[in-house]
Amino acid sequence: MTTNKETETNAFNNSNNDSDFFVRRCSLKDIEGVIDVNEKELPEDYPYFFYKSILDNFPECFLIALNKNGKIIAYIMWRVEKTPSNDSLRYLNKGHLVSIAVYEKYRRKGIASTLLSNSMFAIKKYKILQYVLEVRVSNYTAIKLYEKLNFKIECIKKNYYRDGENAYFMILNVENS
Ligand code: ACO
Ligand code: ZN
Repeated sequence: MTTNKETETNAFNNSNNDSDFFVRRCSLKDIEGVIDVNEKELPEDYPYFFYKSILDNFPECFLIALNKNGKIIAYIMWRVEKTPSNDSLRYLNKGHLVSIAVYEKYRRKGIASTLLSNSMFAIKKYKILQYVLEVRVSNYTAIKLYEKLNFKIECIKKNYYRDGENAYFMILNVENS
């Protein structure tokens, strides 16, 4: 039997052994599958090089979920941002959730929760103090997901999306996660 070392070492155990999905780190050859999920499930699309640069810079927290047939059914990606502290004397690292999506057919099975918990753990290696994200004010489902993890609405970003919709800026301090 042949084994794929890379896949094995990058695999995450799902909390539920009966789950019909599998989570591991994204690799270069997975980007096309990630783009398929993004284009079907989210209006914000990105060029290939954007995904590649996230993968090059923050590979530990760019995760995908696969179904039993090995098809990519969900992804999550983060980037780390340095922002000046309130006293401007130092820089603080923040983990910024760039994008998460799950194919509609596979929702409400805990896939997003599994992707979030594994990636939020992995991104701690960058010594971040806070997790941050933007979400459409109309995206009830995603807002519920983030609230379940203890994210709080910090402010509204007006006109954040290209179509003019506002975003909630949500934050979670790592110490409260
Ligand atoms: N209604 C209410 N609450 C929901 C719903 C829903 N339809 N779906 C998920 N939730 C909440 C619940 O609290 C749920 O916990 P529970 O099932 O124990 O009640 C919790 O989220 C976790 O649900 P999961 O099964 O882990 O989430 P799922 O795998 O279905 O994925 C997601 C959620 C990613 C929001 C999915 O609906 C999706 O892909 N939506 C389209 C893309 C999208 O909106 N992405 C987020 C954009 S914002 C950004 O990327 C920064
Ligand atoms: Zn953002």
